[in-house]
Amino acid sequence: MHAVIAIDGPSGAGKGTVARAVAAALGYRHVDTGAMYRAVAWRALQLGLDLDDEEAVLRVSREAAFELDGSRVSIDGADVSAAIRTAEIDRAVTPVARQARVRAELVARQRAMADDGPVVMEGRDIGTVVFPDAPVKIYLDALPEERARRRANDPAHSASATQALEEIAQAMARRDDHDRTRQASPLSVAPDALVIDTTRLSVAEVVERVMAAVGARGLVAAPLAVHERRRP
Ligand code: DC
Repeated sequence: MHAVIAIDGPSGAGKGTVARAVAAALGYRHVDTGAMYRAVAWRALQLGLDLDDEEAVLRVSREAAFELDGSRVSIDGADVSAAIRTAEIDRAVTPVARQARVRAELVARQRAMADDGPVVMEGRDIGTVVFPDAPVKIYLDALPEERARRRANDPAHSASATQALEEIAQAMARRDDHDRTRQASPLSVAPDALVIDTTRLSVAEVVERVMAAVGARGLVAAPLAVHERRRP
């Protein structure tokens, strides 16, 4: 297994932005595991499945071919990067993420990604379940009002264009509540995680703290691939 930097926390805490910047700084792969749960929900809806039918959703996740590149995601050849960030998928992903066997399938795939090279992986259970031995675990949080405001301003999320801030805040609170109280791998803070409240911090300040934690664990930037090396 290669180096893993686990970044967990509720939605709107800044995981995506921070994970992307840290991955770029280190030359690590950035994996957004929320996009995998969303893509499974999207595919299950497309197939007309009942999202509470665990067998059916499990089959979709087992058979799915994912291509993940930061916030871009394809499932079974369809680029769903935009289609999975809608209010409909926000709702559909909750029953999918609740199912223990679906989680086990996606967790196995996430673990396999760290066999290919070092990763910055963001989600809800990365430091607690997927990689409990990750050398760096970060838990990002922020006040609910600030998280809702960020989601409303997120151009990648089409809900921002159609929903009022109050509606976004309510839907987010409901989803967070499901994530924190579900039986299978609920969102929780790993005992050895560095908790950062991002409410009043700039992205650069958060990234600086994460990079300090990375440096403290002796992790360094991945060597550039041969084709990326500059000629003298
Ligand atoms: O990070 P996000 O909002 O794209 O995540 C979508 C949903 O998937 C959210 O309800 C939490 C869930 N999720 C999860 O249960 N475990 C993960 N590792 C990542 C996301």
